[in-house]
Amino acid sequence: MSVIEINGPRKLSGEYNVQGSKNSVLPILAATVLARGECIIKNCPDIIDVRTSIEILNYLGCKCKFEGSTIIVNSENISKNEIPEDLMRKMRSSIIFLGALISRTGRAKLSFPGGCEIGPRPIDLHLSSLQQLGISINNIHGNLECKIIDKIKGTDIVLPIPSVGATENILLAASICDGITTIENAAQEPEIVDLASFLNKMGAKIYNAGSSKIIIEGISKFNSCEHSVISDRIVSITLLAGAAGTGGSLCLKNISPDLIRSTIPVFEESGCIVKQFSNSIELIAPEKLHSVKEIRTMPFPGFPTDAQSIIMAMLLKSYGTSVFIETIFENRFKHIEELIRLGGNIKSNGNVAIVDGVQTLSGAQVKAYDLRGAASLVIAGLMSQGKTIIDGAEYFMRGYDLKLFPSIKLS
Ligand code: UD1
Repeated sequence: MSVIEINGPRKLSGEYNVQGSKNSVLPILAATVLARGECIIKNCPDIIDVRTSIEILNYLGCKCKFEGSTIIVNSENISKNEIPEDLMRKMRSSIIFLGALISRTGRAKLSFPGGCEIGPRPIDLHLSSLQQLGISINNIHGNLECKIIDKIKGTDIVLPIPSVGATENILLAASICDGITTIENAAQEPEIVDLASFLNKMGAKIYNAGSSKIIIEGISKFNSCEHSVISDRIVSITLLAGAAGTGGSLCLKNISPDLIRSTIPVFEESGCIVKQFSNSIELIAPEKLHSVKEIRTMPFPGFPTDAQSIIMAMLLKSYGTSVFIETIFENRFKHIEELIRLGGNIKSNGNVAIVDGVQTLSGAQVKAYDLRGAASLVIAGLMSQGKTIIDGAEYFMRGYDLKLFPSIKLS
């Protein structure tokens, strides 16, 4: 594992072109398997998870080119319908290939996915939804052997939790089928809308993506297409939080404020001036932030769980006490112990964390356990006096293009 080194304190300021969304590009890359031709995907971030998706596509028989921020995938020839365990374990999103692969080849063999250490991440909803569409799934010693029993048949699926991944797998599996599928309590994240828009460009008939009830009218064949991925809202929040926590001022280009509307009041409550334009956001931070009353993570359009650790780091030196309540994942506080090493005053119990602002943070050796936890350590490192070394740089590189953070050193 490599380490990130930060010599703080460093102000995060300037103008940034936000990278394309990780959580959009990953299911879109999986969806290219359905095209039987060449798809051109623009605004792709150069991050480890994208490289892993390309590895999976190449393994399956696709031909991929990554030039600048454009990925061209030719999926005319798919020669395999299994994904090896080492690739599955590299990231959680590998499971999204299941819906696409089964729809394209009728069969798929893969193991359980890996990913960040943020508590148990079951895939029961992915599997039960696919079963409802007419797919048989056998778990043989940790390997999922899946096949279409007769054909994929449209049906009404009610998700008990608005799971992002399960909604995506249903969209991928049910776009080519007989009949109409409805997803009730569907995830409403912007990345779902982006995937649906990509699939619709390929010929799918998906209606109401972005609402809690999505309707999919089955089609019989996809075309290839060209698409530009939406900008990454969590990277945007990370940059804004970095500027806010370090007393900087910055301008984010290429991002609609709508994508982060639940977090803008948090920046404002902490004392930042936020200016919103149609496709850019400016933030000017005060010298010292105020605490924020309560941050409760919720599915979109609520406050994103992916931003919890990031905003927690931002508030470490604020005046007063901030309360965080994590409602999406069971164990998403691993960064707390590491933020405490840097001088943070945080107490947690169950899914609640209380941050009391401190005067100073000082650099230390810390460890990242997950992508957004790593981002919180980068922000805290920029806010700290002296050298911070973050073990587990790969977690950060799974989701962030290092070009956006010139003040951090990788070794
Ligand atoms: C996606 C995002 C991740 C984000 C999360 C919640 C990607 C690549 N990742 O993850 O960054 O933090 O949404 O916004 O897009 N659950 C089950 N059974 C399932 C599936 C999920 O119980 O089969 C539970 C999970 O444990 C979790 C909740 O549902 O408690 C939400 O998970 P989900 O929306 O599926 O998250 P991901 O798609 O894994």
